[in-house]
Amino acid sequence: PAAGPLAGLSAIVTSGPTHEPIDPVRYIANRSSGRQGHAIAAALRDFGARVTLVSGPVTLPDPAGMSVRHVETAAEMLAAVETALPADIAVFVAAVADWRVAGESAKKIKKTAEGPPALVLAENPDILATIGHHARRPGLVVGFAAETDDLLSNARSKLERKGADAILANDVSPQGGVMGGGENTIRLVTPGGVEEWPTLAKEAAAARLAEWIAARLRRGSGR
Ligand code: C5P
Repeated sequence: PAAGPLAGLSAIVTSGPTHEPIDPVRYIANRSSGRQGHAIAAALRDFGARVTLVSGPVTLPDPAGMSVRHVETAAEMLAAVETALPADIAVFVAAVADWRVAGESAKKIKKTAEGPPALVLAENPDILATIGHHARRPGLVVGFAAETDDLLSNARSKLERKGADAILANDVSPQGGVMGGGENTIRLVTPGGVEEWPTLAKEAAAARLAEWIAARLRRGSGR
């Protein structure tokens, strides 16, 4: 059995984007490399947790020493997360597409003289909010908020609305270089306040989150 501050505990981490098919060859997606989510899964593993990583399509290798579930769509990601319950810890890092294409075409859509097709979108499930309010909710639920504006107020309202214990708020303005880059500047927002972290390599930010999780679980604080 693993040693470490999270030994004996299980964790679910979502990472990467989701791809929502338009037809067999096209999709809509969010930008996400999966680097931060995969690093968090690895940090929790290094702390001794039994980790299930639910990953959308990424080019990263599967991290060793954990169970990795590969999914494409938000619906598949939610199903994989629910299958991995119960868990002690859940960290939702994936950049899930908010919408899927309603009535995806089973055949490749052809260019026609009538001009481009119109895409009709349907709302995807919010995985964090679903699990944050789930009958089998993990004891500790952490989400991300990638924002370009009103970082803190958006993070606070997400905490509340999605039933999370903490939101890692992340400024993704294009000038910050966070998307696909190696570093992150995070503010950890809880109902109790805001911790400002320095700019850290994604691996270091992941280790810091694992430490925060371990400390929080040691204190045994409820919500
Ligand atoms: O609302 P927003 O997408 O900014 O919220 C981000 C947080 O919610 C992240 O933790 C993300 O993984 C999660 N999320 C989710 N399912 C969605 C949308 C977001 O789990 N459909």
